[in-house]
Amino acid sequence: MTAVDAPVPHPAPVAGSGFPAGFRWGTATAAYQIEGAAAEDGRTPSIWDTFSRVPGKVRNGDTGDIAADHYHRMSEDVALMRELGVTDYRFSVSWSRVQPTGRGPAVRRGLDFYRRLVDELRAAGIRPVATLYHWDLPQELEDAGGWPRRETAERFAEYAGLVADALGDRVATWTTLNEPWCAAFLGYAAGVHAPGRTEPVAALRAAHHLNLAHGRAAQVLRAALPAGAEISLTLNPHAVRPLGEGEADRDAARRIDALGNRIFLDPVFHGRLPEDLVADTAGLTDWSFVRDGDLAATSAPIDALGINYYSPTVVTAGTTAAPSPWPGAERHVRFAVAPGERTAMDWPVDAGGLYELLTRLRDELPGTPLLITENGAAYDDYADPSGAVHDPERVAYLRAHLAAVLRALAAGADVRGYFLWSLLDNFEWAYGYGKRFGIVHVDFASQRRTPKDSARWYAEVIARNGLTD
Ligand code: NOJ
Repeated sequence: MTAVDAPVPHPAPVAGSGFPAGFRWGTATAAYQIEGAAAEDGRTPSIWDTFSRVPGKVRNGDTGDIAADHYHRMSEDVALMRELGVTDYRFSVSWSRVQPTGRGPAVRRGLDFYRRLVDELRAAGIRPVATLYHWDLPQELEDAGGWPRRETAERFAEYAGLVADALGDRVATWTTLNEPWCAAFLGYAAGVHAPGRTEPVAALRAAHHLNLAHGRAAQVLRAALPAGAEISLTLNPHAVRPLGEGEADRDAARRIDALGNRIFLDPVFHGRLPEDLVADTAGLTDWSFVRDGDLAATSAPIDALGINYYSPTVVTAGTTAAPSPWPGAERHVRFAVAPGERTAMDWPVDAGGLYELLTRLRDELPGTPLLITENGAAYDDYADPSGAVHDPERVAYLRAHLAAVLRALAAGADVRGYFLWSLLDNFEWAYGYGKRFGIVHVDFASQRRTPKDSARWYAEVIARNGLTD
């Protein structure tokens, strides 16, 4: 394969106003949350198509059937990004659009959509950043056992190869998985995400097989992509804080750090399983599903780590009701409610957690460039009679978090870019369309897009390469 063409040059950011020259400014989305066209051009159901149809699983019975209709409005959405001046756009590829049954050859029409997307982005001077898995497993693979089954990891590596062959000459930055913690523990332990299973041991197996899928895919991508391609993984590391200073609270924080963070960081970056995690879960499993050679595979070298951050996690000694996303920790940990401001998700607004994470990763993963692949907030936005959408709380949230990134950069964290979640209001998983994360408002009845005040603010930040006053 030939070298990845250099993206069309983007106007150089104004120097000296805060962020390093060349800092990447993006927006992020995911296939199931925006595309719609759920049964077009050969796409078959994913686990989210199935799960969203189970009564009571998604608020209001919402599904991704139409979503933001991005599949048909892609050009309009790329034009919106061009207006914003973003340098990068992070999207995900729908596995069941490209390889409907999760095995066999790729469907040309499915791949063509992503080829067109990538070509339009490049023509607009925007670098495409492709995520291969953002939670929409082909239903047939779930029917065969899903992520708790080892074979799914091998299937994923094959699918990664198909996408790399199709887009490798025009996409330079690749992410294997998005937030495998959610895929494993919300999907297979708590059951609040697809496929809705509440099987703690299956969730631990899923976590390992997601790590394996990542490692195998990273290897396939490395072989298929031209030199210079960037291969990454996106995690949602928990910024865990003990509520009090006592031993019991510190132990609660350690358990959540093991199950929420080190269960991925250790296999991927150090080729090992955390010993305390294995001990904590000994009553559930002996981890014999981890085979010889797996941890060498999970730690295939990668070029960057993506971090999604929204709010910190505060814990104390206590108990959590099962089913929970924390197998083995339910009898030891209670999740505390931090006082203070909250978003419409009821998540605390606390930019300090982002600073804590970035400086921790600076220390623990020296030499690994960091990308903030998601950060943003939901608020109850609405268009006023003039059609404008005023979202000062979102601007305040974003400003505080970008200020935390600046502080982390000054403290030596190697942060290369920031992707705002999200470009558009979209399908917020179990919350359906009721939670709006976009900087562009979507009226789902008419599909009309209206940039919110935060979109104009973000465009200014990008143009200055720094925060406004
Ligand atoms: C992380 C997920 O990757 C994304 O899909 C989701 O919408 C945001 N968090 C907000 O919950």
